[in-house]
Amino acid sequence: MELPFAESYKIKMVEPIRKSTRLEREEWIKQAGYNLFGLKSDQVFIDLLTDSGTGAMSDRQWSEMMLGDESYAGASSYFKMKEAIREILGFNHFLPTHQGRAAENVLFSVLVKEGDIVPGNSHFDTTKGHIEFRKAKAVDCTIGEAFDTTLIHPFKGNVDEAKLENVLKTQGDKVPFIIVTVTCNSSGGQPVSLENLKMVRRLADKYGKIVVFDSARFAENAYFIKLREKSCQDKSIREIVEKMFACADAMTMSAKKDAIVNMGGFIAMRSKELHEKASVFNIIYEGYITYGGMSGRDMNALAQGLYEGTEFDYLETRIRQVEHLGNQLMAFGIPIQQPIGGHGIFVDAKRFLPNVPKEEFQAQTLAIELYKEAGIRGVEIGALLADRDPVTRENRYPALELMRLAIPRRVYTNNHMDVVAVALKNIFDRRESITKGYRILHEAPIMRHFTVVLDMIS
Ligand code: F0G
Repeated sequence: MELPFAESYKIKMVEPIRKSTRLEREEWIKQAGYNLFGLKSDQVFIDLLTDSGTGAMSDRQWSEMMLGDESYAGASSYFKMKEAIREILGFNHFLPTHQGRAAENVLFSVLVKEGDIVPGNSHFDTTKGHIEFRKAKAVDCTIGEAFDTTLIHPFKGNVDEAKLENVLKTQGDKVPFIIVTVTCNSSGGQPVSLENLKMVRRLADKYGKIVVFDSARFAENAYFIKLREKSCQDKSIREIVEKMFACADAMTMSAKKDAIVNMGGFIAMRSKELHEKASVFNIIYEGYITYGGMSGRDMNALAQGLYEGTEFDYLETRIRQVEHLGNQLMAFGIPIQQPIGGHGIFVDAKRFLPNVPKEEFQAQTLAIELYKEAGIRGVEIGALLADRDPVTRENRYPALELMRLAIPRRVYTNNHMDVVAVALKNIFDRRESITKGYRILHEAPIMRHFTVVLDMIS
């Protein structure tokens, strides 16, 4: 008999979590203005709000914390991080930053100016925010297949060659760089193939542009390449990572994801000149160039996390857990983005709750239902997040109304995943009776989803 699959680690330290009653949760979510960001963490049983900064560090990472060098300049921790980045990602220059969006802020301060156009594959919100804040435009060149949740495609994060070339051909003079997000968070944690990255490189060379990777989940991307791209099936994760980054000139990194730390990020690049220019902004916004908003101990843990995060056994454990949840949901007939992505499950709320009008926020309604059902916190990626049109102030309704269940790394067991699956099934079984959603009582002028206050429609 073939042995079943099991995790590639055992547990040395635990953190208690609390269950609650449905009555308690109904009261808490009401007090939170029906906004899951407004809940206290101890009001949540299984927290799938994000996989960012919520992972469990290993014993080796914790021992690296003790070895952190807190010198202001030239700390050994900086050099440890530099060596890990050089060895794994192949960049000789880097700048530490306190997290991913800070890396974007520093790099884009050098590269983006008013009127620019930055093509890419479904830019993450903060990436788009840092582009638009500079009065530039993010143009989405993701392949059309990504927007049909039922369609099976091995690389739904891919860049559409024709769309990208069209931007470069018609507006190339306004393009400072091309950005590729690996894996593509906004399309459901979907990977980009190595072949597609090479295509982007070819087009960039043809039009004389630089390529930046938004690399938050680069290792999960490499795992999918190994499994799904024939030419790479015998290569190690590190070899694939090397080939991926050979297609880039620079990268931004939110280390809170694939480097499995609670806080941290960096920018890495090949060009010494770009490093010099970015250093100025790093010093203004983040800190001196050898710490950039990170403490020495955190840089040590990050360096160690880069090595662990690119081990096949770790990645297999991680992604198979996400699949464990996704497969159960599919067996229950629950509509999710397929194939299952790297860092979470994206439930198609339009198809899950067809009786709730889109004006009443279907994905948010589903996320609230799931919280009430079992104390599970997911997050809306739909009309609330899409916000209003800056000019007309009308609500924008995106192509996909999703509820994301992001799975923290090395934190929950498959038993927790089973609870999530059954809780969603229970809601799915009574979906016909859910006909009403929520209306907005109060919202901020931008990024409203974090603080929006809602009321139940009765
Ligand atoms: N790029 C991607 C693809 C991301 O998913 C994130 C963060 C960032 C950049 C920004 O990094 O949070 O360190 O400043 N994503 C988190 C999430 C917030 O929940 O998906 P950060």
